[in-house]
Amino acid sequence: MKDTHLAERVDTMTQLKISARHVNVHYGETHAVKDVSVDIDANSVTAFIGPSGCGKSTFLRCLNRMNDTIDTCRVSGGIRIDDEDIHDRKVDPVQLRAKVGMVFQKPNPFPKSIHDNVAYGPKIHGLARTRAETSGIVEDALRKAALWDEVKDRLDAPGTGLSGGQQQRLCIARAIATAPDVLLMDEPCSALDPVATAQIEELIDDLRQSYCVVIVTHSMQQAARISRKTAFFHLGSLVEFGETDRIFTSPEDPRTENYITGRIG
Ligand SMILES: Nc1ncnc2c1ncn2[C@@H]1O[C@H](COP(=O)(O)OP(=O)(O)OP(=O)(O)O)[C@@H](O)[C@H]1O
Ligand SMILES: [Mg+2]
Repeated sequence: MKDTHLAERVDTMTQLKISARHVNVHYGETHAVKDVSVDIDANSVTAFIGPSGCGKSTFLRCLNRMNDTIDTCRVSGGIRIDDEDIHDRKVDPVQLRAKVGMVFQKPNPFPKSIHDNVAYGPKIHGLARTRAETSGIVEDALRKAALWDEVKDRLDAPGTGLSGGQQQRLCIARAIATAPDVLLMDEPCSALDPVATAQIEELIDDLRQSYCVVIVTHSMQQAARISRKTAFFHLGSLVEFGETDRIFTSPEDPRTENYITGRIG
């Protein structure tokens, strides 16, 4: 595993990427996210942790307006990315999701070839005009996702024929192919074995150089290994947010302490 503390040493270069203020989310009568305000750094990995049902995925989906696609879901409050209001009328949610990519818990490749899975986004967003440009983007994304060497000789094979860990890296390649600058990952390793998990963690550590990565995880070891800051959610509220080392060694809120010591969950 790589030295996660490298992140601390370049702290002076940290820039604000995402700023959320008083975000509330309701599904019908259910108040799933309660008055959450948080600032997320660029070029850094931020972890969201907390017990099941506390609103981690819901809040994560606010960041690329994925909740817009859920009928009963109402989001209020302000979210700015690069100081731009993502709910502004001039923001096209489809464009926003190209810039703020998402990787889900269960790898979900399209029923297409490996090549076409990765080429899909760049094509619909007009990022590639020629076949050569498309191949270049596909290769680059697969390399960044540490999958190229394993698939370069079978780009026409179906994406669904890869192993679980390879499929997840394919989904990461698909997300990076549209040149996002934020990558939202909702428990990306929960369906993977320890070897594939280690590969994805190493990949996240590499991606941190050029992306703002926000990852939901149920593994506190994973949060400790890969993130610089951690947010602890409980019953829809953001209870505590800070440097990961501090959250895990000297949490301020008893609810955080109970969770990390395994007393609630
Ligand atoms: N599509 C939906 N429709 C209605 N209620 C939902 C929907 N998605 C989530 N909820 C509710 O919102 C609350 C927060 O759920 P969410 O999925 O954000 O939690 P989570 O922290 O990601 O949990 P887990 O760790 O189990 O993934 C829960 O009460 C859940 O039942
Ligand atoms: Mg979830």
